[in-house]
Amino acid sequence: MRVIRDTAAMQALAIERRSKGVNTALVPTMGALHEGHLSLIRLAHEHGDEVDVTIFVNPTQFGPGEDLSRYPRTLERDLELCRKEGVATVFCPNDGEVYAADHSTQISETSLSSGLCGAYRPGHFDGVVTVVAKLFNIMLPTAAVFGRKDFQQARAIQRMVRDLNFPVRIVLAPIVREPDGLAMSSRNRYLSEAEREQALSISRALKAAETEVAGGSENAEVLQRAAEAAITAAGLEVQYVACVDADTLEPVARVGRQVVLAVAALVGNTRLIDNVVLQPSAS
Ligand code: PAJ
Repeated sequence: MRVIRDTAAMQALAIERRSKGVNTALVPTMGALHEGHLSLIRLAHEHGDEVDVTIFVNPTQFGPGEDLSRYPRTLERDLELCRKEGVATVFCPNDGEVYAADHSTQISETSLSSGLCGAYRPGHFDGVVTVVAKLFNIMLPTAAVFGRKDFQQARAIQRMVRDLNFPVRIVLAPIVREPDGLAMSSRNRYLSEAEREQALSISRALKAAETEVAGGSENAEVLQRAAEAAITAAGLEVQYVACVDADTLEPVARVGRQVVLAVAALVGNTRLIDNVVLQPSAS
């Protein structure tokens, strides 16, 4: 497995591979890898001759007061996991390798990014789409895999690829959960035992909504209120609970086809997100 820290060296390798007709599938990450990330790597093997992983805690997607400085960094362990998963190349640059000190150009996604997490994290999705565009230009992947766990992020990246004609196929991967239902996240390691128990209220509330919808409920407001009440009762501070159209991310009043129920909540200082695709009953 190649481990590359230098942007110019990485891009030169990518150009050389491409000229030889090698198709690559990319999994961009911020490290602290867990089974969710590993599932993306496994899926990536189905979409390229070689799989690349990037590990970079991107400063431009963190707001003031967010967890940039304490974000978990476990590079040696991450590299070991990548090796085990048959990754061909890991690009793990330092901050200075990615952003010039006087960088002054960025991409802005102005529609899908405005609601949900975007309302609570101004500038976050611009930071995400900008770094992903940069990584595409450095890595030159044929395909790139993103998790549905960060549903709004995945949709913003798909929109950027479409709007700016990036020649990259975006593949979305299902959410990987702990056996008790908690969606895996690098941020779960911030949780105390008690907070982890409280955090379960999120996936339980989503599961309950899924069951309601399968049983014929279709009133978004009622579903949202029930989920919010259950999560609040567990002691979390809910930022949003929203039924949105999976395509436009606009709020819906009725659960028809293609509706996602998305949640963001704080457990202590830790911000967690999760979502589920609601499947209305056929009748
Ligand atoms: P990070 O949070 O490390 O996540 C990297 C990828 O793993 C994302 O596509 C995310 O959706 C996916 N992922 C995380 N937890 C998952 C889970 N439980 N199940 C399935 N997939 C999961 O997302 C980022 O990094 C950054 O914003 C990035 C795209 C790398 C840009 O900096």
